[in-house]
Amino acid sequence: MTNFQGLPPVLTIDGPSGSGKGTIVKHVAQRLGWHMLDSGALYRLVAYGSQQNHLSFEDENAIAEYAAQLDVEFKLVELESGIETGQNGQDLQIILEGKVVGSELRTETTGNAASIVAAMPKVREALLQRQRDFRQNPGLVADGRDMGTTVFPDAEAKIFLTASAEERAQRRYKQLKEKGISGNLAALLQDIRRDINERDERDSQRSASPLKPAEDAILIDTSGLSIEQVVEQVMAVCEKSFDVK
Ligand code: C5P
Repeated sequence: MTNFQGLPPVLTIDGPSGSGKGTIVKHVAQRLGWHMLDSGALYRLVAYGSQQNHLSFEDENAIAEYAAQLDVEFKLVELESGIETGQNGQDLQIILEGKVVGSELRTETTGNAASIVAAMPKVREALLQRQRDFRQNPGLVADGRDMGTTVFPDAEAKIFLTASAEERAQRRYKQLKEKGISGNLAALLQDIRRDINERDERDSQRSASPLKPAEDAILIDTSGLSIEQVVEQVMAVCEKSFDVK
């Protein structure tokens, strides 16, 4: 399937941290049998890799150069643990400079560092073509903040997922509790609320590709909805926009 320009089809799913995008994108990509782009992982990799290589976050040129040369491989491997399922029975392994990176990318610290490097226009520019290269047949589901506005403005279908800041904080808190995190839980919830607010503020106030819905995006408020309910709403959009069932 290609669009009128001969390009593979794209569905963009944007939204703030904790809106459930990652999970929804995996389910939808699996249902469609399409590729997936987790653009947040690229910003996380740049932040994490820059820190590992002792680059200063004050030096935008150095970070942008690192982003342009980012030595990363995304590899589908047979699933052992059942956690973080990418495709059916498979897991997406991320290899940065020859080393597998996993949980260290998903920490709050790396998420916050990612939002700092993501505010640098030269870093965004350096990652642009790399993201566009994920557009391959039979199609792509792209997850991020600016997929519909900047990276794939010509996408055939665009979705913007929202949820109140409190709901997003509660979801993250629940995830951490399920992972068995102990300590002062009330203080933890306060910290998560603060982090979410800070990240929302930084992502939506920056001048380069701020977080905002594309004019032609369909808004879905996921507050109070189950994963299945959101996936069904997204699939309904896909059925209207693409030749899929
Ligand atoms: O989605 P995730 O939480 O992994 O993204 C980490 C950070 O990367 C976000 O807080 C945001 O600042 C940045 N990001 C971005 N543009 C994207 C994806 C992520 O600026 N397309």
